[in-house]
Amino acid sequence: MTTPTPLFSPFKLALVQLAVGSNKDENLKNARKNVLEASNHGANVVVLPECFNSPYGTSFFPNYAENIPQGSSVKALSEMAKDAGVYLFGGSIPERDESTGKLYNTSTVYDPEGHLVAKHRKVHLFDIDVPGKIRFQESETLTAGNWLTHITTPYGKLGLGICYDVRFPEMAAIAARKGCIAMIYPGAFNMTTGPLHWELLQRARAVDNQIYVAMCSPARDTSASYHAWGHSSVVDPRGQVVATTGHEQDIVYADLDPELLASFRQSIPLNQQRRHDLYCDVAENVEEHADGTVLLK
Ligand SMILES: *[C@@H]1O[C@H](CO)[C@@H](O)[C@H](O)[C@H]1NC(C)=O
Ligand SMILES: *[C@@H]1O[C@H](CO)[C@@H](O)[C@H](O)[C@H]1NC(C)=O
Repeated sequence: MTTPTPLFSPFKLALVQLAVGSNKDENLKNARKNVLEASNHGANVVVLPECFNSPYGTSFFPNYAENIPQGSSVKALSEMAKDAGVYLFGGSIPERDESTGKLYNTSTVYDPEGHLVAKHRKVHLFDIDVPGKIRFQESETLTAGNWLTHITTPYGKLGLGICYDVRFPEMAAIAARKGCIAMIYPGAFNMTTGPLHWELLQRARAVDNQIYVAMCSPARDTSASYHAWGHSSVVDPRGQVVATTGHEQDIVYADLDPELLASFRQSIPLNQQRRHDLYCDVAENVEEHADGTVLLK
């Protein structure tokens, strides 16, 4: 029998629930101030929300989109990671691929020296069309990413998704089977899906996989066209919410504890008792690459 308990060191995670406005430079300044504050409070890994440098909505994306890594947001994020000395999950920004002109919903990650260590493009695009009711086609503006992303840090391996990605259990399951101890999702649910599913989805991904799950939302701006739910939270491997907030700008802190994860997995040993003779292992044909990308073999 194997003991697949992933080893990691205890660390402090901070989610910055940022108030986002329409001025990109102001958004970057505010992000910097809060990342430095989180670091002063002892955070080792800091997360910014989805769409933290631009108002939320597909109509804004072409104007706010930037090249990665040449754009101003990447430069600012790299500097704040370095000055704060933290691993920084740079929320998400609209990315323009110069060679194709395509737009992506992209999250970039930096190490404490400011190096860009991973780039995740949102994998699942949100398209809905209920005739006569609502039509929202994210795929008309954006292109989907084609890889999963796991980031190796000295604290442990962390999986990364964006917002709607949290609804797809396979992605979190693959991360957990490959040894990630947490899934991190910058996200922005609205005032309907927030109360209904925001916490439930995090608890579900956490308890199914016995990992930590964190989602970081922008603060709610009632003067903007999109009203984010807020409630950035961290859920532990038992499925309990260990840190959360309301809808104002705030920083949510949680201490991630390897012993809690290991002891919970011991008391309910799902990993040793799966029946892959009866159903497939979602991680079976998946391969991790040195640059953090994760693909089918
Ligand atoms: C990213 O994904 C969200 C959630 O599906 C979507 O609604 C939003 O418009 C996208 N944001 C960006 C910056 O492309
Ligand atoms: C939130 O999004 C859902 C899914 O697209 C939609 O059905 C609902 O009307 C939206 N709610 C608000 C308050 O915009």
